[in-house]
Amino acid sequence: MDAPLKSSHIPALDGRRILLGVTGSIAAYKAADLASRLTQAGALVDVVLTSAARRFVSPLTFTSLTGRRAYDDDDLWGQDAHVLHVSLGRDAELIVVAPATARTLARLATGMADDLLGLALLASRSPLILAPAMDAGMFGHPATQANLETLRQRGAIVIGPAEGRMASGLVGPGRMVEPAEIVGHIRRALGRGRSLSGRRVLVTAGGTLEAIDPVRVIANRSSGKQGFALAQAALDRGADVTLISGPSALATPVGAERIDVETVDQMLAEIQSRLETTDILLMAAAVADFRPSHANEDKIKRGAGAIDIHLEPTADILATVAERRKRSGGPRVVVGFAAESRDLVGQARQKVKAKGLDLIVANDITAPDAGFAVDTNRVTFVDRAESVQELPLMSKAEVAEAVLDRVELILGRQRPAA
Ligand code: CTP
Repeated sequence: MDAPLKSSHIPALDGRRILLGVTGSIAAYKAADLASRLTQAGALVDVVLTSAARRFVSPLTFTSLTGRRAYDDDDLWGQDAHVLHVSLGRDAELIVVAPATARTLARLATGMADDLLGLALLASRSPLILAPAMDAGMFGHPATQANLETLRQRGAIVIGPAEGRMASGLVGPGRMVEPAEIVGHIRRALGRGRSLSGRRVLVTAGGTLEAIDPVRVIANRSSGKQGFALAQAALDRGADVTLISGPSALATPVGAERIDVETVDQMLAEIQSRLETTDILLMAAAVADFRPSHANEDKIKRGAGAIDIHLEPTADILATVAERRKRSGGPRVVVGFAAESRDLVGQARQKVKAKGLDLIVANDITAPDAGFAVDTNRVTFVDRAESVQELPLMSKAEVAEAVLDRVELILGRQRPAA
């Protein structure tokens, strides 16, 4: 059996050709991190450095990280120069300029092709992401703002700059956004027009909390990782994604609308208000089955000795969704998740029926490499027809891809009737 891919691998970036333009800012050192992340994700990253960028970092830095040649203006006058700038621009599925200095933005806005990066940008019609980095004063200047506006109107995606302290000592907008966030924007841009574009996907993630008193809660071990991976995978396929999450420190995937909730009732209300506009519901949250029938107003004191907490059942969200689907329609595909400690398939079969699901994704929580908090999962699919498919150990990102493959199959089968 194949080992699961490393968590730095990103299926949506695998084999994708990205041109990274690096211009002359101190943030150029962060471009090395970006090149590394993209390469580890599986992308083929070509790098072009301007002459000012070369003063901060060298082509060798990038060659070492990407395993591919990095270019600078010396290449502009080489034997193949006449085709190089065209091929670099044309072959890239996406171009990202990070950091993008005020000068580069000005050159780009006026179509000035006076170096290799300028030529490649002019030769390309691929999506363009710009991550400006400069002093706050330069960023705020009307000339820079006008250039950015021109570029935006031409379709460039401008991300940041972030607020913070700059090399000049000024504090304000001017810092390049972090590489992890740039990767998120690249995924979003590459996802456009892909298999789930135009679909509205609602994902729930993490665990719910129910209060015992103002301090204590009933929680569970869910980390939210599988749900967040599903949201990201749906974004990678071009979907509009809303992520309803229990408390989680995980970063929101770029492009997802995130709604934070704590209790089952809050989660139910947020889902219900979106059912009509949802095409696909992926219910990965670990929803509490019971809650204290009464939350103490004051903190319960220790002196009282043993206490009894009476628990009452919470609303079954998926059962409510199933009711609604029967009555007035609703999401075209509903996927449930089940964490089981025994009789995995039997339980999953029963739940797929009882909860009116199209698919259930079940995992055995007794396995050490699957389930809560870890980055891997070993799941079994059971569909409406009760057919069973066991998947090998995978990263949670790969499980998310497999779930969405099944969702697309289900949607495909529905299409003739729709
Ligand atoms: N779920 C839900 N509402 C609840 C509890 C669970 O919608 N109050 C959803 C979960 O998000 C998950 C699916 O139902 O997608 C299965 O959850 P699970 O806890 O395994 O199912 P239960 O019906 O609670 O069954 P069990 O008795 O095994 O806990």
